[in-house]
Amino acid sequence: MDRGEMTVPQEEMARQAEFAAMVRALPHRPGSYHVVTYGCQMNAHDSEKIAGMLEEMGMVASEKREDADFVIFNTCCVRENAERRALGNVTWLKEVRKQKPDMVIAVCGCMIQEPGMAETILKKYKFVDLAFGTANLHKLPEMLYETLNAGKQTVNVEDRDVIAEGLPVRRLRQDAAYLTVMYGCDNFCSYCIVPYVRGRERSRDPETILREAEELAASGVKEIMLLGQNVNSYGKGLPGNPTFAGLLEKLDGIGIPRIRFMTSHPKDLSDDLIDVMAKGKHILPQFHLPVQSGNNEILKKMNRHYTREQYLDRVSRLRSAIPGIGLSTDIIISFPGETEAQFEDTMSLVREVKFDSAFTFIYSPRTGTKAAEMEGIIPDEVSTERIQRLISLQEQLQQETLKRFIGQEEEILVEGLSRRSRLAVSGKGRHAVSVTVEGTEQDIGQIMKCRITNLKNNTLAGERIPGGKA
Ligand code: SAH
Ligand code: SF4
Ligand code: F3S
Repeated sequence: MDRGEMTVPQEEMARQAEFAAMVRALPHRPGSYHVVTYGCQMNAHDSEKIAGMLEEMGMVASEKREDADFVIFNTCCVRENAERRALGNVTWLKEVRKQKPDMVIAVCGCMIQEPGMAETILKKYKFVDLAFGTANLHKLPEMLYETLNAGKQTVNVEDRDVIAEGLPVRRLRQDAAYLTVMYGCDNFCSYCIVPYVRGRERSRDPETILREAEELAASGVKEIMLLGQNVNSYGKGLPGNPTFAGLLEKLDGIGIPRIRFMTSHPKDLSDDLIDVMAKGKHILPQFHLPVQSGNNEILKKMNRHYTREQYLDRVSRLRSAIPGIGLSTDIIISFPGETEAQFEDTMSLVREVKFDSAFTFIYSPRTGTKAAEMEGIIPDEVSTERIQRLISLQEQLQQETLKRFIGQEEEILVEGLSRRSRLAVSGKGRHAVSVTVEGTEQDIGQIMKCRITNLKNNTLAGERIPGGKA
């Protein structure tokens, strides 16, 4: 597919806008909506687009799902428990609908894109009115119009690999925004379902991204999070071969106070990108770099295309170019055939790097992936024991690494009131670590300067620097 075919034509977007107006005019349309979101930032941002479209159709957000006229489940299928949770919640709503027969229920997101899932939904979940895949989002007005008019199930999982520009967005936060730079993934790590459900890698046009960033800056956004399954390979297939490093440099010039991005693949982490980060004024000194395993044989079976040594080289390069950088990672344990010694290699890598945080997962077989065919399933008891060991090691190391912030100045973007005290607020510092500071509701959404004073239970606390509102 070439790029011309990939981008949804303007005429189609205009046609959907007409459907949105038609839904709005329907006397029996839902008046309120609630989106339940599972999974990663991609899904969170898709939910913001769903909410944007529904508001254009005249609906208002409902805080509780059971009160809404239209409930949408935006699902994830990266691990089995994510899928089970989503399906369990959909089933629960079936009971609610008995008291509220006009309620419309939709299921969308990655899970729907799994082979055969749409049919399963049709047969086993007859109360679901609408099911659509990740690439059909922009057709929501048309699908909803049909569902409301025909009164029968509508399923759409046909489109793949499209880019739909110009969808309305109802942002979750006013101070921070997601900005997608690329969709899909071509890496086919052997354990991962994402390339099957999110389609081939496709990058958005750089000018469109820059324009969106400028609009966000003009609306007062203080932080943008650039999104992509593998942002480092941004630009593949675009005219002029733009790179992520180049794009980041331009975005840095716009003047948005804080720029972050997610996720990076170690094999594509270029020296150019590190240089741009080191020189940038607004690019936060933090990096999420999933390692998955510390053992070369397992990395090979995972199809990750780097070795432990190469990973460590990237880490030391990042640390020398950006001293004090905040590092986080993802780790999978109990990949098929993982021996105790191979697991110990992961433990030793964790000890060597000393991440500020690590997301740890027990391998979950996903139908259709290469690893699901591999032998050597690790018994649950072994996995439970290993993950506990890994988590407690990480907690212990975190206690050490976070100490480096004590006595330092940090700028935090205040996210909300602290859960522990009503007189405190918490937010993320520039290094992606959470900090709690004295404050009130009025500070939410502001960037605050503070000095880190102590570390308790792996949480940093600070004191506001007087007049230190940035
Ligand atoms: N594109 C991103 C995110 C992928 S999903 C990346 O490559 O980092 C987020 C994390 O989920 C992955 O990094 C991996 O650690 C984990 N994950 C993916 N598939 C999994 C599986 N089948 N079982 C357990 N964890 C998995
Ligand atoms: Fe999955 Fe690997 Fe792609 Fe990440 S890079 S989404 S882990 S296939
Ligand atoms: Fe899940 Fe889809 Fe994200 S499978 S992790 S919501 S890309």
